Amino acid sequence: MPRQCKDRIFQFRRADTDMLVLPYKYVEDIRKLPNTVASPTVAHVHNLMGSSTNMHIILCNNLHFRTLQLKLTPNLSSLTRPMQEEVNFAVEKELTQSEDEWVTVKPYHTILDLVARVSARIFLGKPVCRNAEWLEVSTQFTENVFVSLVFLRLFPMWTHGFLNWVMPSSYRGTAYVNKAKKLLVPEINRRRNAAAEGQVEPEDAKNNLLSWMMEIATPEESEASALAHLEVVMSLASIHTSQMNAVHCLYDLLAHPEHLEPIREEIRAVVRKEGPWMKWEKPAFSKLRKLDSFMRESQRFNPPTLLSMHRVLLRDARMSDGTLLQKGAHISMAVNSIQNDPDVTPEPEKFDGFRYYKLRQRAGEGHLHQFSTTQDRILNFGHGPYSCPGRFFASLEIKIILVRLLMDYEFKFKNGNERPANLRAHEFIFPNPDAEILMRARPASERLSL
Ligand code: HEM
Repeated sequence: MPRQCKDRIFQFRRADTDMLVLPYKYVEDIRKLPNTVASPTVAHVHNLMGSSTNMHIILCNNLHFRTLQLKLTPNLSSLTRPMQEEVNFAVEKELTQSEDEWVTVKPYHTILDLVARVSARIFLGKPVCRNAEWLEVSTQFTENVFVSLVFLRLFPMWTHGFLNWVMPSSYRGTAYVNKAKKLLVPEINRRRNAAAEGQVEPEDAKNNLLSWMMEIATPEESEASALAHLEVVMSLASIHTSQMNAVHCLYDLLAHPEHLEPIREEIRAVVRKEGPWMKWEKPAFSKLRKLDSFMRESQRFNPPTLLSMHRVLLRDARMSDGTLLQKGAHISMAVNSIQNDPDVTPEPEKFDGFRYYKLRQRAGEGHLHQFSTTQDRILNFGHGPYSCPGRFFASLEIKIILVRLLMDYEFKFKNGNERPANLRAHEFIFPNPDAEILMRARPASERLSL
């Protein structure tokens, strides 16, 4: 962001829309605006080119948001065990067990598979979560949405209807939504019939996002095909975001290996206190303060997007300094520039994986500076009532996966290469999907005791 724009609003012109990028002095003003005045959802739908990518369903209601806030986050303790089970299943099925031979892997895909499996377990429960078609839908829908939106943003809105007809990614995206409906509508009906007949379902079939959505949906929100569609949308919101964070962490650990042993020692200390990994409950993962700090620092260096706090104004809004933002404006904030201001992050160019760990050692700050904590100038998850409702789940999921990978495997860059460079498309930043590294199993005596 240009220096002279640090305290000023600037306009960012795109073929599809003009966007106002606000300085951080307006964070509190924006945070306080209700969504009837400044809508995050309308902004997300625009950003994701919702009417061309099937994302516009989130404009119908906020069931997805409510289910995460009212059900998923409060139930994270009971979900920890199923998440670990799913990681076990995936590690045994998909990853090398060889201690002698280094094998080449593409971390983007390896970790995508792990995250998709763990998310599916929590979004659908067993056995549907292991359905290969669902795993394909939940990962490939997102990739097609991104191909479509990166392309569509290069053209004015009035051309999108036509372009939508000729883009293969658009057809594929719609085909994935239809596939999800074909898979999940019978499952929703089965669960409804079982409930009507008073059948007692196993815990796994009750404690998952789909069943919770069915439980709290109003009659207008309950149509089975709409619930199936929302499951796909939630996969988009959750899987690649968490996967990218985990891949960046892995690369950053290899690029800054001095952090690895202290993180492993922290994990061993939790094992000594809490017992084997499968016995850990959610609070055990909260004890991994060094890992948590590393995840936050890695996110600072590799944010998923340079712009966040997107809103579309549904009415005029006056800021506390008198500035008027007009109805219809699309606003956002340059979150990475804001976080990397030396007033917020001293020596921002320095990668210090334990930066936030050290801050948490200060009196009264033990609960602050966590990966999932939002602050007025740390906005990677937004800030305020409309901030990411899935961030606590993301934090736990990434930790569960990383603990297992770091304890059970060694990794190294290929041929002594450097960290694979990130890719950029518009404001989005992501790890190179084709980058390769080497991995092998650690000796059994050093792996996590399960
Ligand atoms: C590291 C991982 C993640 C990152 C960086 C991330 C980031 C964000 C950001 C920046 C927002 C917008 C906040 C705003 O408007 O102020 C958001 C919204 C949202 N996120 Fe996340 N997120 C992550 C993981 C997840 C997960 C795991 C889920 C689901 C379990 C999820 C579900 C959502 C939903 C439903 C919304 C709101 C959409 C709406 O307004 O309708 N996110 N996320």
